[in-house]
Amino acid sequence: MIRRAIVTGGAGFVGSQLVWQLQRQVPDVQIVVIDDMRCGTFSNLVEDPFGKAGPFKGTVIAKPLAAVDIRDIAARFEPEVIFHEAAITDTTVTDEATMINDNADSFDTLIDVAQSVGSRLVWASSAATYGIEAGGATVAHRPFVCRDAGYPANVYGFSKWLMENQHRRAVADHRDFHMVGLRYFNVFGPSEAHKGKMASMVYKLAMQMLDGQQPRIFFDGTQARDQVYVKDVVAATIAAAADDAKAGIYNVGSGVATSFNQVVEQLNTALGTDLSADYFDNPYSFYQAYTCADLDETRSGLGWEPSYSPEDAIVEYAHWIRGQREDSKRSLSEMKI
Ligand SMILES: NC(=O)c1ccc[n+]([C@@H]2O[C@H](COP(=O)([O-])OP(=O)(O)OC[C@H]3O[C@@H](n4cnc5c(N)ncnc54)[C@H](O)[C@@H]3O)[C@@H](O)[C@H]2O)c1
Repeated sequence: MIRRAIVTGGAGFVGSQLVWQLQRQVPDVQIVVIDDMRCGTFSNLVEDPFGKAGPFKGTVIAKPLAAVDIRDIAARFEPEVIFHEAAITDTTVTDEATMINDNADSFDTLIDVAQSVGSRLVWASSAATYGIEAGGATVAHRPFVCRDAGYPANVYGFSKWLMENQHRRAVADHRDFHMVGLRYFNVFGPSEAHKGKMASMVYKLAMQMLDGQQPRIFFDGTQARDQVYVKDVVAATIAAAADDAKAGIYNVGSGVATSFNQVVEQLNTALGTDLSADYFDNPYSFYQAYTCADLDETRSGLGWEPSYSPEDAIVEYAHWIRGQREDSKRSLSEMKI
Protein backbone atom coordinates (compact mmCIF):
# COMPACT_ATOMS: atom_id res chain seq x y z
CA MET A 1 0.00 0.00 0.00
CA ILE A 2 1.34 3.42 -0.98
CA ARG A 3 1.44 6.07 1.78
CA ARG A 4 3.32 8.96 0.12
CA ALA A 5 3.22 9.72 -3.59
CA ILE A 6 3.88 12.55 -6.01
CA VAL A 7 1.49 12.53 -8.97
CA THR A 8 2.48 14.82 -11.84
CA GLY A 9 -0.51 15.64 -14.07
CA GLY A 10 -2.73 14.72 -11.11
CA ALA A 11 -5.49 17.15 -12.14
CA GLY A 12 -5.80 15.48 -15.54
CA PHE A 13 -7.83 12.48 -16.58
CA VAL A 14 -5.71 9.44 -15.63
CA GLY A 15 -3.76 11.34 -12.95
CA SER A 16 -6.88 12.34 -11.00
CA GLN A 17 -8.32 8.83 -11.23
CA LEU A 18 -5.02 7.55 -9.86
CA VAL A 19 -5.20 10.05 -7.00
CA TRP A 20 -8.70 8.84 -6.10
CA GLN A 21 -7.72 5.20 -6.17
CA LEU A 22 -4.66 5.84 -3.96
CA GLN A 23 -6.93 7.66 -1.52
CA ARG A 24 -9.50 4.84 -1.63
CA GLN A 25 -6.80 2.30 -0.84
CA VAL A 26 -5.17 4.28 2.00
CA PRO A 27 -7.49 7.04 3.31
CA ASP A 28 -4.64 8.97 4.98
CA VAL A 29 -2.26 8.66 2.01
CA GLN A 30 -0.16 11.80 1.48
CA ILE A 31 -0.28 13.03 -2.11
CA VAL A 32 1.45 15.95 -3.79
CA VAL A 33 -0.02 16.76 -7.20
CA ILE A 34 2.12 18.79 -9.60
CA ASP A 35 -0.04 20.08 -12.42
CA ASP A 36 0.08 23.50 -14.07
CA MET A 37 -3.60 23.18 -15.08
CA ARG A 38 -2.90 23.82 -18.77
CA CYS A 39 -5.36 21.04 -19.51
CA GLY A 40 -6.37 19.51 -16.19
CA THR A 41 -8.78 21.15 -13.79
CA PHE A 42 -9.36 21.43 -10.05
CA SER A 43 -12.84 19.95 -10.59
CA ASN A 44 -11.29 16.54 -11.27
CA LEU A 45 -10.04 16.64 -7.68
CA VAL A 46 -13.29 17.72 -6.05
CA GLU A 47 -15.28 14.53 -6.18
CA ASP A 48 -14.34 10.90 -6.70
CA PRO A 49 -16.42 9.86 -9.74
CA PHE A 50 -16.80 6.43 -8.19
CA GLY A 51 -17.90 8.07 -4.97
CA LYS A 52 -15.90 6.30 -2.28
CA ALA A 53 -12.79 8.35 -1.56
CA GLY A 54 -14.30 11.33 0.29
CA PRO A 55 -12.89 14.83 -0.35
CA PHE A 56 -9.37 15.27 -1.75
CA LYS A 57 -6.85 15.54 1.08
CA GLY A 58 -3.62 16.23 -0.80
CA THR A 59 -1.59 19.23 -1.91
CA VAL A 60 -1.50 20.80 -5.38
CA ILE A 61 1.48 22.65 -6.81
CA ALA A 62 0.01 24.44 -9.82
CA LYS A 63 3.20 25.06 -11.78
CA PRO A 64 4.84 23.56 -14.87
CA LEU A 65 7.28 20.79 -14.02
CA ALA A 66 10.17 22.78 -15.44
CA ALA A 67 9.42 25.59 -12.96
CA VAL A 68 9.27 23.56 -9.75
CA ASP A 69 12.22 22.52 -7.64
CA ILE A 70 11.33 18.85 -7.78
CA ARG A 71 14.61 17.92 -6.09
CA ASP A 72 13.73 19.99 -3.04
CA ILE A 73 10.11 18.77 -2.94
CA ALA A 74 11.17 15.12 -3.16
CA ALA A 75 13.95 15.53 -0.60
CA ARG A 76 11.52 16.99 1.93
CA PHE A 77 8.50 14.80 1.13
CA GLU A 78 10.33 11.49 0.54
CA PRO A 79 7.73 9.92 -1.78
CA GLU A 80 7.70 6.15 -2.03
CA VAL A 81 6.57 6.55 -5.63
CA ILE A 82 6.61 9.30 -8.23
CA PHE A 83 3.83 8.76 -10.75
CA HIS A 84 4.56 10.85 -13.82
CA GLU A 85 1.39 11.49 -15.84
CA ALA A 86 1.99 15.13 -16.89
CA ALA A 87 2.35 15.69 -20.63
CA ILE A 88 0.97 17.67 -23.52
CA THR A 89 -1.66 15.14 -24.54
CA ASP A 90 -3.03 16.85 -27.64
CA THR A 91 -1.70 14.53 -30.33
CA THR A 92 -2.54 17.06 -33.06
CA VAL A 93 -0.11 19.69 -31.70
CA THR A 94 2.47 20.33 -34.42
CA ASP A 95 4.79 22.73 -32.55
CA GLU A 96 7.60 20.22 -32.32
CA ALA A 97 9.91 22.17 -30.01
CA THR A 98 7.15 22.77 -27.45
CA MET A 99 6.04 19.14 -27.49
CA ILE A 100 9.59 17.84 -27.04
CA ASN A 101 10.59 20.46 -24.46
CA ASP A 102 7.48 20.07 -22.35
CA ASN A 103 7.19 16.29 -22.46
CA ALA A 104 10.77 15.07 -22.48
CA ASP A 105 12.96 17.83 -21.09
CA SER A 106 12.12 17.63 -17.38
CA PHE A 107 12.18 13.85 -17.45
CA ASP A 108 15.95 13.47 -16.87
CA THR A 109 15.62 15.60 -13.73
CA LEU A 110 12.70 13.50 -12.52
CA ILE A 111 14.70 10.31 -13.08
CA ASP A 112 17.71 11.74 -11.30
CA VAL A 113 15.59 12.88 -8.36
CA ALA A 114 13.82 9.50 -8.04
CA GLN A 115 17.19 7.76 -8.01
CA SER A 116 18.70 10.10 -5.45
CA VAL A 117 15.77 9.96 -2.97
CA GLY A 118 15.17 6.22 -3.56
CA SER A 119 11.62 6.59 -4.99
CA ARG A 120 10.09 4.29 -7.49
CA LEU A 121 9.22 5.97 -10.78
CA VAL A 122 6.17 4.93 -12.79
CA TRP A 123 5.40 7.00 -15.87
CA ALA A 124 2.99 7.18 -18.79
CA SER A 125 4.34 6.40 -22.22
CA SER A 126 1.94 5.75 -25.09
CA ALA A 127 0.88 3.38 -27.83
CA ALA A 128 1.75 6.33 -30.10
CA THR A 129 5.38 5.11 -29.85
CA TYR A 130 4.45 2.28 -32.23
CA GLY A 131 3.41 4.50 -35.15
CA ILE A 132 1.14 3.51 -37.98
CA GLU A 133 2.58 0.23 -39.15
CA ALA A 134 3.57 -1.44 -35.89
CA GLY A 135 1.87 -4.75 -35.54
CA GLY A 136 1.71 -5.03 -39.31
CA ALA A 137 -1.28 -2.73 -39.74
CA THR A 138 -0.92 -2.67 -43.51
CA VAL A 139 -0.13 -6.36 -43.76
CA ALA A 140 -2.04 -8.41 -41.22
CA HIS A 141 -3.40 -7.10 -37.95
CA ARG A 142 -1.71 -8.60 -34.95
CA PRO A 143 -1.25 -7.35 -31.38
CA PHE A 144 1.64 -4.93 -30.79
CA VAL A 145 4.57 -6.49 -28.97
CA CYS A 146 6.88 -4.18 -27.05
CA ARG A 147 9.92 -4.58 -29.33
CA ASP A 148 7.89 -3.29 -32.34
CA ALA A 149 7.79 0.31 -31.05
CA GLY A 150 10.03 3.18 -32.10
CA TYR A 151 8.43 4.44 -35.31
CA PRO A 152 6.08 7.19 -34.03
CA ALA A 153 4.02 8.99 -36.66
CA ASN A 154 3.59 12.30 -34.84
CA VAL A 155 5.67 14.51 -32.57
CA TYR A 156 3.62 13.49 -29.53
CA GLY A 157 4.60 9.83 -30.04
CA PHE A 158 8.17 10.95 -30.78
CA SER A 159 8.35 12.84 -27.46
CA LYS A 160 7.24 9.66 -25.64
CA TRP A 161 9.83 7.64 -27.56
CA LEU A 162 12.54 10.09 -26.44
CA MET A 163 11.36 9.51 -22.86
CA GLU A 164 11.62 5.76 -23.38
CA ASN A 165 15.23 6.26 -24.54
CA GLN A 166 15.87 8.28 -21.37
CA HIS A 167 14.30 5.42 -19.40
CA ARG A 168 16.52 2.80 -21.08
CA ARG A 169 19.67 4.83 -20.40
CA ALA A 170 18.66 5.33 -16.76
CA VAL A 171 18.08 1.66 -16.02
CA ALA A 172 21.20 0.62 -17.91
CA ASP A 173 23.22 2.79 -15.51
CA HIS A 174 21.30 1.71 -12.35
CA ARG A 175 20.12 -1.86 -12.70
CA ASP A 176 18.27 -1.95 -9.36
CA PHE A 177 16.29 1.25 -10.04
CA HIS A 178 12.51 0.59 -9.89
CA MET A 179 11.35 2.39 -13.04
CA VAL A 180 8.34 1.33 -15.08
CA GLY A 181 7.04 2.95 -18.26
CA LEU A 182 3.51 2.15 -19.36
CA ARG A 183 2.36 2.42 -22.96
CA TYR A 184 -1.28 3.27 -22.44
CA PHE A 185 -3.52 2.53 -25.42
CA ASN A 186 -6.86 4.42 -25.90
CA VAL A 187 -8.05 5.19 -22.38
CA PHE A 188 -11.67 6.11 -21.65
CA GLY A 189 -13.72 6.72 -18.52
CA PRO A 190 -14.93 9.38 -16.07
CA SER A 191 -12.94 12.66 -15.64
CA GLU A 192 -11.96 13.08 -19.27
CA ALA A 193 -14.47 15.80 -20.28
CA HIS A 194 -11.87 18.59 -19.83
CA LYS A 195 -9.88 17.12 -22.75
CA GLY A 196 -12.40 18.46 -25.31
CA LYS A 197 -11.52 17.21 -28.79
CA MET A 198 -8.86 14.95 -27.23
CA ALA A 199 -11.39 13.11 -25.05
CA SER A 200 -11.92 9.46 -25.98
CA MET A 201 -14.08 8.49 -28.95
CA VAL A 202 -16.25 6.50 -26.54
CA TYR A 203 -17.03 9.70 -24.62
CA LYS A 204 -17.56 11.90 -27.70
CA LEU A 205 -19.80 9.37 -29.46
CA ALA A 206 -21.85 8.77 -26.30
CA MET A 207 -22.42 12.52 -25.91
CA GLN A 208 -23.52 12.88 -29.56
CA MET A 209 -25.90 9.96 -29.21
CA LEU A 210 -27.38 11.25 -25.94
CA ASP A 211 -28.07 14.50 -27.84
CA GLY A 212 -30.01 12.43 -30.39
CA GLN A 213 -27.35 12.99 -33.09
CA GLN A 214 -25.90 10.37 -35.39
CA PRO A 215 -22.43 9.35 -34.13
CA ARG A 216 -19.74 10.78 -36.43
CA ILE A 217 -16.86 8.44 -37.26
CA PHE A 218 -14.25 8.15 -40.00
CA PHE A 219 -15.31 6.18 -43.09
CA ASP A 220 -15.84 3.16 -42.96
CA GLY A 221 -15.81 2.57 -39.23
CA THR A 222 -13.78 -0.62 -39.43
CA GLN A 223 -10.69 1.10 -37.99
CA ALA A 224 -10.08 -0.65 -34.70
CA ARG A 225 -8.38 0.57 -31.55
CA ASP A 226 -7.46 -1.01 -28.25
CA GLN A 227 -9.96 0.75 -25.97
CA VAL A 228 -9.06 0.38 -22.30
CA TYR A 229 -11.06 1.46 -19.25
CA VAL A 230 -9.45 4.00 -16.93
CA LYS A 231 -10.10 1.76 -13.90
CA ASP A 232 -7.88 -0.89 -15.49
CA VAL A 233 -5.23 1.68 -16.42
CA VAL A 234 -5.09 2.94 -12.84
CA ALA A 235 -4.84 -0.63 -11.53
CA ALA A 236 -1.94 -1.30 -13.92
CA THR A 237 -0.22 1.94 -12.86
CA ILE A 238 -0.43 1.00 -9.18
CA ALA A 239 0.65 -2.58 -9.94
CA ALA A 240 3.73 -1.12 -11.64
CA ALA A 241 4.76 0.47 -8.33
CA ALA A 242 4.49 -2.77 -6.32
CA ASP A 243 7.55 -4.44 -4.78
CA ASP A 244 7.35 -7.43 -7.08
CA ALA A 245 6.83 -5.47 -10.33
CA LYS A 246 9.70 -5.97 -12.73
CA ALA A 247 11.26 -2.74 -14.06
CA GLY A 248 10.66 -2.21 -17.75
CA ILE A 249 8.35 -0.72 -20.38
CA TYR A 250 4.99 -2.40 -20.86
CA ASN A 251 1.77 -2.20 -22.85
CA VAL A 252 -1.39 -1.26 -20.97
CA GLY A 253 -4.49 -1.99 -22.99
CA SER A 254 -7.49 -4.28 -23.05
CA GLY A 255 -5.74 -6.71 -25.40
CA VAL A 256 -8.69 -6.39 -27.82
CA ALA A 257 -9.12 -4.23 -30.94
CA THR A 258 -12.63 -2.75 -31.06
CA SER A 259 -13.80 -1.14 -34.30
CA PHE A 260 -15.61 2.20 -34.20
CA ASN A 261 -18.63 0.47 -35.74
CA GLN A 262 -18.61 -1.87 -32.73
CA VAL A 263 -18.31 1.07 -30.31
CA VAL A 264 -21.41 2.64 -31.91
CA GLU A 265 -23.27 -0.66 -31.69
CA GLN A 266 -22.33 -1.14 -28.03
CA LEU A 267 -23.34 2.44 -27.18
CA ASN A 268 -26.68 1.97 -28.93
CA THR A 269 -27.29 -1.09 -26.76
CA ALA A 270 -26.16 0.62 -23.55
CA LEU A 271 -28.11 3.85 -24.16
CA GLY A 272 -31.21 2.25 -25.69
CA THR A 273 -30.74 4.27 -28.92
CA ASP A 274 -30.84 3.15 -32.54
CA LEU A 275 -28.59 5.63 -34.33
CA SER A 276 -26.59 4.76 -37.42
CA ALA A 277 -23.09 6.14 -37.98
CA ASP A 278 -22.54 9.34 -39.97
CA TYR A 279 -19.28 8.57 -41.80
CA PHE A 280 -16.80 11.23 -42.95
CA ASP A 281 -13.35 11.16 -44.54
CA ASN A 282 -10.32 10.86 -42.25
CA PRO A 283 -8.20 14.04 -42.66
CA TYR A 284 -5.13 12.64 -40.84
CA SER A 285 -2.21 11.10 -42.72
CA PHE A 286 -0.68 9.76 -39.47
CA TYR A 287 -3.77 7.92 -38.23
CA GLN A 288 -3.36 4.55 -36.45
CA ALA A 289 -6.11 2.50 -38.10
CA TYR A 290 -5.39 -0.52 -35.94
CA THR A 291 -3.99 -0.80 -32.43
CA CYS A 292 -4.05 -3.74 -30.08
CA ALA A 293 -1.86 -4.39 -27.05
CA ASP A 294 -0.09 -7.67 -26.64
CA LEU A 295 -0.23 -8.24 -22.89
CA ASP A 296 2.03 -11.26 -22.38
CA GLU A 297 4.98 -9.22 -21.10
CA THR A 298 2.68 -7.03 -18.98
CA ARG A 299 1.16 -10.07 -17.31
CA SER A 300 4.49 -11.59 -16.45
CA GLY A 301 6.29 -8.35 -15.52
CA LEU A 302 3.54 -6.62 -13.53
CA GLY A 303 1.21 -9.47 -12.60
CA TRP A 304 -1.61 -7.34 -14.00
CA GLU A 305 -4.27 -7.92 -16.59
CA PRO A 306 -7.44 -5.99 -17.42
CA SER A 307 -10.51 -6.88 -15.41
CA TYR A 308 -12.98 -5.33 -17.92
CA SER A 309 -13.70 -6.34 -21.48
CA PRO A 310 -14.01 -3.20 -23.68
CA GLU A 311 -17.72 -3.97 -24.15
CA ASP A 312 -18.48 -4.22 -20.40
CA ALA A 313 -16.48 -1.06 -19.75
CA ILE A 314 -18.26 0.86 -22.55
CA VAL A 315 -21.64 -0.16 -21.13
CA GLU A 316 -20.67 0.83 -17.56
CA TYR A 317 -19.25 4.14 -18.74
CA ALA A 318 -22.22 4.95 -21.00
CA HIS A 319 -24.56 4.43 -18.04
CA TRP A 320 -22.33 6.67 -15.91
CA ILE A 321 -22.37 9.46 -18.55
CA ARG A 322 -26.15 9.23 -18.88
CA GLY A 323 -26.50 9.40 -15.07
CA GLN A 324 -24.28 12.49 -14.91
CA ARG A 325 -26.28 14.25 -17.62
CA GLU A 326 -29.56 13.47 -15.90
CA ASP A 327 -28.19 14.80 -12.59
CA SER A 328 -27.00 18.05 -14.17
CA LYS A 329 -30.31 18.54 -16.03
CA ARG A 330 -32.16 18.00 -12.72
CA SER A 331 -30.01 20.56 -10.90
CA LEU A 332 -30.48 23.07 -13.75
CA SER A 333 -34.26 22.70 -13.63
CA GLU A 334 -34.23 23.01 -9.82
CA MET A 335 -32.23 26.26 -10.17
CA LYS A 336 -34.90 27.65 -12.53
CA ILE A 337 -37.62 26.97 -9.90
N1 LIG B 1 -5.70 9.18 -22.22
C1 LIG B 1 -5.12 8.37 -23.10
O1 LIG B 1 -5.79 7.73 -23.92
C2 LIG B 1 -3.62 8.20 -23.09
C3 LIG B 1 -3.06 7.30 -24.01
C4 LIG B 1 -1.67 7.15 -24.02
C5 LIG B 1 -0.87 7.84 -23.12
N2 LIG B 1 -1.45 8.72 -22.27
C6 LIG B 1 -0.55 9.45 -21.34
O2 LIG B 1 -1.09 9.39 -20.04
C7 LIG B 1 -0.81 10.59 -19.33
C8 LIG B 1 -2.10 11.18 -18.79
O3 LIG B 1 -2.93 11.53 -19.91
P1 LIG B 1 -4.40 12.07 -19.71
O4 LIG B 1 -5.26 11.44 -20.72
O5 LIG B 1 -4.76 12.02 -18.29
O6 LIG B 1 -4.20 13.58 -20.17
P2 LIG B 1 -4.56 14.96 -19.46
O7 LIG B 1 -4.23 16.01 -20.45
O8 LIG B 1 -5.91 14.91 -18.88
O9 LIG B 1 -3.50 14.99 -18.26
C9 LIG B 1 -2.22 15.55 -18.35
C10 LIG B 1 -2.09 16.57 -17.23
O10 LIG B 1 -0.76 17.07 -17.20
C11 LIG B 1 -0.79 18.46 -17.00
N3 LIG B 1 0.44 18.98 -17.60
C12 LIG B 1 0.80 18.90 -18.89
N4 LIG B 1 2.05 19.34 -19.06
C13 LIG B 1 2.50 19.71 -17.83
C14 LIG B 1 3.73 20.23 -17.33
N5 LIG B 1 4.78 20.45 -18.15
N6 LIG B 1 3.85 20.50 -16.01
C15 LIG B 1 2.80 20.26 -15.17
N7 LIG B 1 1.62 19.75 -15.57
C16 LIG B 1 1.48 19.48 -16.89
C17 LIG B 1 -2.07 18.94 -17.66
O11 LIG B 1 -2.55 20.15 -17.09
C18 LIG B 1 -3.01 17.76 -17.38
O12 LIG B 1 -3.72 17.94 -16.18
C19 LIG B 1 -0.08 11.50 -20.31
O13 LIG B 1 1.31 11.38 -20.09
C20 LIG B 1 -0.46 10.93 -21.66
O14 LIG B 1 0.51 11.20 -22.63
C21 LIG B 1 -2.79 8.91 -22.22
